[in-house]
Amino acid sequence: MAKNWLYQEFQQTGKDYASLEEVNVYDPSHDDFRNINEEYQLIDDWLEPNKNCQWADIGCGTGNFSIYFAKKCKKLYAMDISEPMLDLAKKKAKAQLVTNIEFQHSGYLNLKLPDGSLDAVMSSLSLHHLPDYWKAKALEKIYQVLKPGGRLYIYDIVIPDVHGDEAIQGFIDRQAERGGDFLREDTLIHFKEEYSTYDWIMKGLIAKQGFSLIGEITEDGVLKRYLCQK
Ligand SMILES: C[S@@+](CC[C@H](N)C(=O)[O-])C[C@H]1O[C@@H](n2cnc3c(N)ncnc32)[C@H](O)[C@@H]1O
Repeated sequence: MAKNWLYQEFQQTGKDYASLEEVNVYDPSHDDFRNINEEYQLIDDWLEPNKNCQWADIGCGTGNFSIYFAKKCKKLYAMDISEPMLDLAKKKAKAQLVTNIEFQHSGYLNLKLPDGSLDAVMSSLSLHHLPDYWKAKALEKIYQVLKPGGRLYIYDIVIPDVHGDEAIQGFIDRQAERGGDFLREDTLIHFKEEYSTYDWIMKGLIAKQGFSLIGEITEDGVLKRYLCQK
C-alpha cells in the first residue's frame, strides 16, 4: 500500500528558502548574529577533517560550510531541498575553484548515499525543519551512511528543558537588537511555524538512534551544538 502519509520534505515550512529574495538576504542577515569563523573552528576541532575523508552537509543553504570544509576533505556532498540555495552555493564554489563538492537536490529523508561511506555529517540550522518523528527518521538515515566511529555535528535552535517561554522570548528580543525587524520576524516565524524541540527530546532521539553524545554546547539560551558519534 502506498504510504501517502510520508512527510513531504521538499515543501518549505516556515521561512521560504526556495524564494530568491530570502536566499539573497541569507548571508548578510546571518552575519548579524553568527560568528562564522568561530563555527568553522569548532567544527574543525570536533570533526577533524583530513584529505582522505568524505563528508556530507545536509541543508547546506548558501554553501559556506560545504565550501570551507571541502577544501580540507577528499569529497563533500552538499544537499538542500531548495534549488535557489543550491544555485548560489554552486556559484560560490565555482568562484573559489572548489571542485570536490557533489551538490544534490535532496534532503534528510531522501538521503541516497552508500551505507557506511561517510566520515562525518554536518547538520547546521536545518534539522528543525522536520517534525520530531521525522527528525528520528533523518537520524536513522545519517547513522546508516556514517562509517563506524563517524561523527555527526548538529547545530540548531533547541528549547531548554525548563523556562522555555523565557528562553524563547529572550532570544527573540536579542535577535531584534542584533538585526532589527528582519531578525525579529525571522525568529518569530521560526518558533511559530518550524519544529524546534526540547533539548531532552533531541538527546533522546540522538541516544535512541545509537549515537554517543560526546560534545555539547549551549549559547544564548536556545542555540545548541551536539557532537554525536556512531
Ligand atoms: C537556516 S538554513 C541553514 C543553512 C546552512 N546550513 C547554515 O548553517 O547557514 C536551512 C536550510 O535547510 C534547508 N532544508 C529545509 N528542510 C530540509 C530538509 N528536509 N532536508 C535538507 N535541507 C532542508 C532549507 O532549504 C535551507 O536552505
